[in-house]
Amino acid sequence: MSQAHNTDKVLIFDTTLRDGEQSPGATMTFQEKLEVADLLDEMGVDIIEAGFPIASEGDFAAVSEIARRVKRATVAGLARAGFKDIDRAGEAVRHAHNGRIHTFVATSPIHLKYQLQKSEAEVLELVTASVTRARNLIADVEWSAMDATRTPIEFLTRCVDAAIRAGATTINLPDTVGYTTPDEYCALFQAIRENVAGSDKAVFSAHCHDDLGMAAANSLAALRGGARQIECTINGIGERAGNAALEEVVMAIRTRGDVLPYITGVDPTFLTRAAKLVSAVTSFPVQYNKAIIGRNAFAHESGIHQDGMLKNASTYEIMTPASVGVSKTSLVMGKHSGSHAFKEKLKELGYELGENALVDAFKRFKDLADRKKVVYDEDIAALVDNEIVSANDRIKLVALIVVAGTMGPQSATLTLDIDGVHQTRQSTGNGPVDAIFNAIGALVPHEANLDLYQVHAVTEGTDAQAEVSVGLSRAGKSVIARGADPDTLVASARAYLAALNKLMVRDERGAKLDQMAAG
Ligand code: KIV
Ligand code: ZN
Repeated sequence: MSQAHNTDKVLIFDTTLRDGEQSPGATMTFQEKLEVADLLDEMGVDIIEAGFPIASEGDFAAVSEIARRVKRATVAGLARAGFKDIDRAGEAVRHAHNGRIHTFVATSPIHLKYQLQKSEAEVLELVTASVTRARNLIADVEWSAMDATRTPIEFLTRCVDAAIRAGATTINLPDTVGYTTPDEYCALFQAIRENVAGSDKAVFSAHCHDDLGMAAANSLAALRGGARQIECTINGIGERAGNAALEEVVMAIRTRGDVLPYITGVDPTFLTRAAKLVSAVTSFPVQYNKAIIGRNAFAHESGIHQDGMLKNASTYEIMTPASVGVSKTSLVMGKHSGSHAFKEKLKELGYELGENALVDAFKRFKDLADRKKVVYDEDIAALVDNEIVSANDRIKLVALIVVAGTMGPQSATLTLDIDGVHQTRQSTGNGPVDAIFNAIGALVPHEANLDLYQVHAVTEGTDAQAEVSVGLSRAGKSVIARGADPDTLVASARAYLAALNKLMVRDERGAKLDQMAAG
């Protein structure tokens, strides 16, 4: 057995920026990707899959920049089996202090017949050719058998054998469609490792999707079968139902060392901060009851539970909130709080802002505290997330005046900063939200459809901050974005503008993909 299989160290391969970003609507900007990558590196992730360099100029630029700046983690770029893809990925990770090319091809009969239209012999040739090409560019090469869990073991064995012979240093057996079960997945790793003569030369990796809600359980089961790398994402975002959630994998290993005798290099006190950042930049809300990082994960409501907690926290908590970066004590924040207390509060919530961002956030906090009796932690998080998300937007909200009520027609006078130029327009509408959206449409003409408009209160009470989610789609592309403000109408405008900004980023990427497809 290889060194890798003998150790109890499990490599954490984060694919938030690649598989995670493939979630419909989860597009991140260049700056947002850098911010996420920096945090992943700081928290101790072993490998950061930074993107799919051939997919767009934007992806290439993000992978290259992440490769240059990341200090500890290996930076991986994804590539299909074609030489153009592989060369582009190699170019993108060229300046990394540890770079990896991750190349894949589908191996299941369904994919061979319907998607690739290739024979097994042709796929085997592709495996050898693609891994050889990648190894000629870089020493660290991961090969993935897409749809491995629906591939006959005999053919999968031959593919893995070919990949290792060609020099793959990591072998990934993805459960691409979230179909497997823990026992079955464990047995797959055991069988492949036994059947392939050179299996000790590679680290085996699990990559699970959550279509049946078993992604984390399947990933952990793979460790029993000899896998020593788990591919996962912050908050479990990813294609369809998502990938295994990094926070679940890391905390399961940490909390259940008795049955999962492994270690990871991830510092779990970063988990909450990472969850908040990824939720903010993707505008994907984290479900309240989400394991580890959901807002209710450490909340106790029933009398019996509260009684137990007051006597001893171990009665109803298997992890301490502090162990995942949740602060227990809460500074009471209000209009008398100064910037020092505000900075401390941000630190406690896991945010570290630069001087200018801090000044802006403090000003918004003061405005909020003037209008609201109690400023909760969630209010501050929403306020700072807004700040982070809007920093690089092309269209920014400057001012909004709305006339609403029973006398109609409702109207909105809106001033936007569009690429640095202030423009104002007044519009009417069927209600104030419609008037605002019409004003936005007049200032930024576009053909996007409004698919989602949802309002919820960040905290309780009539003075709670409103958080609005807006979904837009155009030409098959869809985005979701959020905006928060104590004024629901301002939050609506912010959310709509955030969605438009995201759509622009998507358009730039789409144009490049179309160009690629054409020739
Ligand atoms: O799910 C999958 O098979 C993938 C591969 C590209 C690794 O994401
Ligand atoms: Zn995947």
